[in-house]
Amino acid sequence: MELRKGSWKILILVCVLVIYLWMLFVDHSHMLADISQRITLQKTRISARNTMYQSPDRSRIEETPPNGLRTDSKKSQSFPSRNANNTLEGSLSEYQMLKQQGLVPSRQLPTALIIGVKKGGTRALLEFLRLHPAIRAAGSEVHFFDHHYVKGFRWYRRRMPPTLVGQITMEKTPSYFVTSEVPKRVKHMNPGMKLIVVVRDPVTRAISDYTQVKSKRRKMPRFEDLAFLNGSRIVDTSWVPLKIGVYVRHLERWLQYFPLSQFLFVSGERLIADPVMEITRVQDFLGLKRVICEKHFYFNATKGFPCLLKSEDRATPHCLGKNKGRSHPYIDPMAVQRLRDFYRPFNQRFYQLAGMDFGWY
Ligand code: A3P
Repeated sequence: MELRKGSWKILILVCVLVIYLWMLFVDHSHMLADISQRITLQKTRISARNTMYQSPDRSRIEETPPNGLRTDSKKSQSFPSRNANNTLEGSLSEYQMLKQQGLVPSRQLPTALIIGVKKGGTRALLEFLRLHPAIRAAGSEVHFFDHHYVKGFRWYRRRMPPTLVGQITMEKTPSYFVTSEVPKRVKHMNPGMKLIVVVRDPVTRAISDYTQVKSKRRKMPRFEDLAFLNGSRIVDTSWVPLKIGVYVRHLERWLQYFPLSQFLFVSGERLIADPVMEITRVQDFLGLKRVICEKHFYFNATKGFPCLLKSEDRATPHCLGKNKGRSHPYIDPMAVQRLRDFYRPFNQRFYQLAGMDFGWY
């Protein structure tokens, strides 16, 4: 018993000694540094928020189920505006600074959408916009508001790229413009959403659409046989490639949910002829500095389109894929003229509603 009591005492003594030595020799400064770094990051995030926006705060949208159970009381989303020094260097260094400080990017719901139109030049616009350090965009078409809406906002957010404070999250799904349920759903998620529509001469657009489908099918009727009813001169308005081009109808539906000021119409033709001009309009619309400019583009004579000198993913000059900028099949000029006549009144109404003449005659 005496011996046991003695060994307990020795054991306790050894433990106390080990703890004492551990406290003496192990450096605890990293723990303190970690705590202080966390406090600094928190402070930086708050100060970055304040300096990068002119508008009060970036109201991050709450995850709400698409059944109307909104938990977010904030109605609209604010957008980053030009930053204090308004230079490219200033903008880049702000993001670099945030990255260097170890801020972790997080996924956000988009605050700007390219909603259409299919074959208008939507991929080109998105790829050009990705040059901007304040824009982060989902790579492929997400189809949330038309195909995957039941999956909820959490699903949608997971498809978005991670962003730092001050960066805009975007996605493009051209079918949104022509799908009737979409405007209401977008408004439910964010009534302040910025909406970009790339439009192109509806006749050329229809031919482009047809060319794309034809490239995937072995047997396909002629364009003229699909565009007119039973070989007549009557336009088959139920044929989807032609329906899409009645832009005024789709816009009227969207305007029931969003004011015109939240739309930007980009000319698909000018996006090819003068990409910088159209990109400048988009940057202004998004409240961003004019970072994307002439030095980012070159004209590739072989492809016949503007291409990029470098991009986020590639440091060498490159054009869009070979399925963008395809050559179109020969279409009977009489058929083309008939379609132009068909679209003329719709185009005129579209120009009036959009407040812009796109010059398709
Ligand atoms: P075509 O292939 O019929 O010429 P979307 O990306 O919306 O599907 O649009 C495809 C169209 O974008 C192409 O149709 C092409 O005319 C147009 N486009 C605009 N800028 C382009 C670019 N820089 N490179 C390739 N295609 C471009």
